Amino acid sequence: MNTTSRTIAIGLFAAFSVPAQKVTMTPPMGWNSWNTFYGNISESLIKGIIDVMGTNGMRAAGYVYVNLDDNWMANPARDGAGNLRADPTRFPNGIKSLADYAHSKGMKLGIYGDRGSMTCMNVPQSGSYGKEAADAKMFASWGIDYVKYDNCNPVGQMQSDYTTMGKAIANSGRPMVFSVCAWQTQEWMPAVGNLWRSTDDITSEWLGVNNVYGRAIMTNLDGNSDKFIFTRPGAFSDPDMLEVGTGKLTLDENKAHFGLWALMAAPLIAGNDVRSVNATNLAILTNSDVISIDQDSAGIQGRRILKNGDFETWVKPLGTEYNSFAVGLFNRSGSASNMTIKWSDLQLDPTSVTVRDAWAKKDLGNIKDAHTVSVPSHGLALFKVKGTRDPSATTWVSDRQIHSITNAWKLLGVDKSVAGNALKIGSKTYTKGLGTNSPSTTVLALRKKFDKFQSDIGIDAETSAGSVVFQVFGDGKKLYESPVMKGGAAPVAIDVSVAGVDSLSLIVTDAGDGNTNDHGDWAGAKLTPATSGVTAPVRSLQDWQATVRGGRLLLDRASSATEVLRIHDLQGREVLSHRLTGTHTDIAVRGLARGIYSIRLGESTASRSKTFLLD
Ligand code: GLA
Repeated sequence: MNTTSRTIAIGLFAAFSVPAQKVTMTPPMGWNSWNTFYGNISESLIKGIIDVMGTNGMRAAGYVYVNLDDNWMANPARDGAGNLRADPTRFPNGIKSLADYAHSKGMKLGIYGDRGSMTCMNVPQSGSYGKEAADAKMFASWGIDYVKYDNCNPVGQMQSDYTTMGKAIANSGRPMVFSVCAWQTQEWMPAVGNLWRSTDDITSEWLGVNNVYGRAIMTNLDGNSDKFIFTRPGAFSDPDMLEVGTGKLTLDENKAHFGLWALMAAPLIAGNDVRSVNATNLAILTNSDVISIDQDSAGIQGRRILKNGDFETWVKPLGTEYNSFAVGLFNRSGSASNMTIKWSDLQLDPTSVTVRDAWAKKDLGNIKDAHTVSVPSHGLALFKVKGTRDPSATTWVSDRQIHSITNAWKLLGVDKSVAGNALKIGSKTYTKGLGTNSPSTTVLALRKKFDKFQSDIGIDAETSAGSVVFQVFGDGKKLYESPVMKGGAAPVAIDVSVAGVDSLSLIVTDAGDGNTNDHGDWAGAKLTPATSGVTAPVRSLQDWQATVRGGRLLLDRASSATEVLRIHDLQGREVLSHRLTGTHTDIAVRGLARGIYSIRLGESTASRSKTFLLD
């Protein structure tokens, strides 16, 4: 294999090796026992929670998972045959009967396990290490819908343990959400889990005990805030369960915590005693406007776009057009203050914007240029805004949602180098762009909406060594390849046509000599929107075009001769074939897991195939 195809193969196989099940395309919503009850859980408690959530508006608002956390098992946790079993006193009818009860009330039941020898409460024999397949099958046989899998008492290696359990769940015969709880963010997690815990445990403290920054809401907010690169439909970064209504937070803090979690597309897993929740906290948890921000189908994690001391502006794109946003104005200071969002900061035409107050659930109509509100101490003003994009605005690649990433060292840098410095090539610095370490593949969904990709490329000035090759692929076809570029060199500007491209892959290879110091930057990377609404033809295929939209494959070709269309997954397995007769074909591709596939037309494969992204 040459360097190029090897890099793509490594990148794609790594990203999609365990396709996480399509069980929760928006952030999961529910309740978990840990934050309030810790290990003191029982069948009667959980049934009471299920009953209340079914009638107090929470189920109707979307909170369907009721999740048992640590200590549901017996002590020791396994029977003579090695099977996990529930504590016979606290769960006298076992877990299956509890799951049946949840299902009879329109709810789902979640359970908790651990990748090591024991869970975090050190219940003897409770770990699933080496018993993943049997435990996942047991959970499935009980009717479990969600598995939170913790990181205590490890025996094996983290990625391999979570991958083994992810596969065991996928093979268990029952769809179950897989919650990776390893208190950090790693690149393999979105392909293995539906959610992954980016932080240490949350507590019902704003800043930490005695205001010392520790286990607290603000710690988890900050820990999760810069881990937005992997969040996408079906894969969510998890700053831990909610502390709304658990006791210590003020009204404004409860609201800010909930609103910020919604802005980050975080799982909304309540942690309070919902049986005694007061009306104010219930109204926060069930606010349909705020929930709709969290549950937006584009699944984009909002970012903090401006920070001025204690005053922060948070923005979450709603949908994929980048003309509709949730905006949070967050005041960390000790007193109320006026805060302003300018529509130019959202790249919207300043006369076009309509505003809705999410807390009040009230339309405020068209507001020109900017909006100013008074935000209380520790408060979050939260709006939904919609407008038209300012045609003169620049579409920075780094502002857009990323579909998948592989990057060989550290996490992909967004508006910074891979080592976390300002982007700089030669003597030129950049505020926008992506910082990589080869071999690296960053895939973006362009949806055929852009004409050009432009960027400066080169090795970041933070190292004077390294050697890389930059490549741009559109729908699997190579559109650009640089010569070998070395550390210390000046940037090179590239301008690549991406007309008609659905899926853009930005690849940095190691140029065949290893990847030490290969800090390749896509500096100032930007896209030019297609000027007309007409989709340009796919350049790689003069005689046919295919689009995947809404679970359907639409294919047009010049010829009407009979030939066979075949779709293969990345492992080369055929997942669909269809005999084409006319020039236009419209077939369902629903049911295929998220991922990258190739389409081939006819039997001679090489010249007549292309890849597509199903997301
Ligand atoms: C770890 C997890 C928590 C909780 C406890 C249970 O600390 O991070 O969320 O599940 O274990 O023991």
